[in-house]
Amino acid sequence: MQPETHNNHQSNTPWDTLWFNANLATMEGDTPYGLIQDAAVGIKDGVIQWVGRTVDLDDHERNQCQNTLDCAGKLVTPGLIDCHTHLVYAGTRADEFEQRLSGASYADIAKKGGGIMSTVKATRAASEQTLLDESCPRLHALMSEGVTTIEIKSGYGLDRDNELKMLRVIKTLSQQNPIEIHSTCLGAHAVPPQYQGNADGYVDWVVNHLLPEVAQSRLATAVDAFCEGIGFSLDQTQRVLTAALDLGFQLKCHAEQLSNLGGAAMAGKLGALSVDHLEYLVPEDIAHLKSRPTTAVVLPGAFYFLRETQLPPIDALRDAGIPIAIATDCNPGSSPTQSLLLMLNMACTFFALTPEEALSGVTKHAAHALGIESTHGTLRPGKVANMVQWTVRHPAELSYQIAANPCERVLFQGQLR
Ligand code: NIG
Ligand code: FE
Repeated sequence: MQPETHNNHQSNTPWDTLWFNANLATMEGDTPYGLIQDAAVGIKDGVIQWVGRTVDLDDHERNQCQNTLDCAGKLVTPGLIDCHTHLVYAGTRADEFEQRLSGASYADIAKKGGGIMSTVKATRAASEQTLLDESCPRLHALMSEGVTTIEIKSGYGLDRDNELKMLRVIKTLSQQNPIEIHSTCLGAHAVPPQYQGNADGYVDWVVNHLLPEVAQSRLATAVDAFCEGIGFSLDQTQRVLTAALDLGFQLKCHAEQLSNLGGAAMAGKLGALSVDHLEYLVPEDIAHLKSRPTTAVVLPGAFYFLRETQLPPIDALRDAGIPIAIATDCNPGSSPTQSLLLMLNMACTFFALTPEEALSGVTKHAAHALGIESTHGTLRPGKVANMVQWTVRHPAELSYQIAANPCERVLFQGQLR
């Protein structure tokens, strides 16, 4: 069955771009992947104008269009969205990987001053330019897989100058690259050395100084916090998120990654865009995610790399109708990956998501995790023209292949990238 032709943005001036003869996964409607075979997409000024079957194209529109591209029957999807990354950092933690393989746990290493703190040291020592130079290749790797929107967090500075330095690097990355970047302040990622033994004092500083300054500088639109034994208590996390809400930030929360502290339910009640990780989320807390609804972001790279065995409650999230997104969590400690496509495969193999759910997790539901679902994440008139043409024909191929990159052509805001 073919979904209906969408045609609500017709205007008098011609389209500037037309992709036709595509196997189009619109991710809209009730059919699998919202698939339209032999489909075309008309675009003007970076916005999708028309989606339908190639045979239903208006000859006039087709003939007047300047950039007409034949997709040769290949798969076309929305641009991919990586909705949770920490890709701005300096240094490496390969030594900790070796320690973990010899039996040390992620939490043990953190408690001894390694872990996040080891990356904080390296990030503080790096100049702004070095930080940019080290981060850029990671961004490019994700872009080469068809990622057109990405979220990047601070959280390896943990003092005024270094948090702002990270946020400025995120801004520079966004100015220098054809990708949409959403910036999140993760000042409450860990208690830094200057507040050792005084987590409450650090939270006071985040709430009273860091967040107001970040709000004023407009260097981030969202605030995140790490609610965990090696991070912040439920009460401390709630103080950070409540202050952030009052300052007009959107909310995210690292919750239930290594233990269950109730962070997801708390953040859900505050109307967070997303709660992320969730291996230790208990099904009873899922009800608190329903009102917005808050997106459940699962991070199979961290699950894999930390050799976790506790699975996030996927069936209960699915049954509750909570949008489930997938992201790389690209970071040096728990998920040193630069492949969102690999995460699709892992989400299917580890978490038993279907390939269709996996693709929704990096398109439609990832848009939801960033609060941009009205303009991004699916292909229909009115949405931003971010699209990827793949060498493969069927959307399940994107989840099926392990460490392949079938990305062939990317349109970003209506322009070929
Ligand atoms: O999402 N859990 C907290 N933060 C990151 C890991 C950060 C690190 O180890 O450097 C995460 O897994
Ligand atoms: Fe993370």
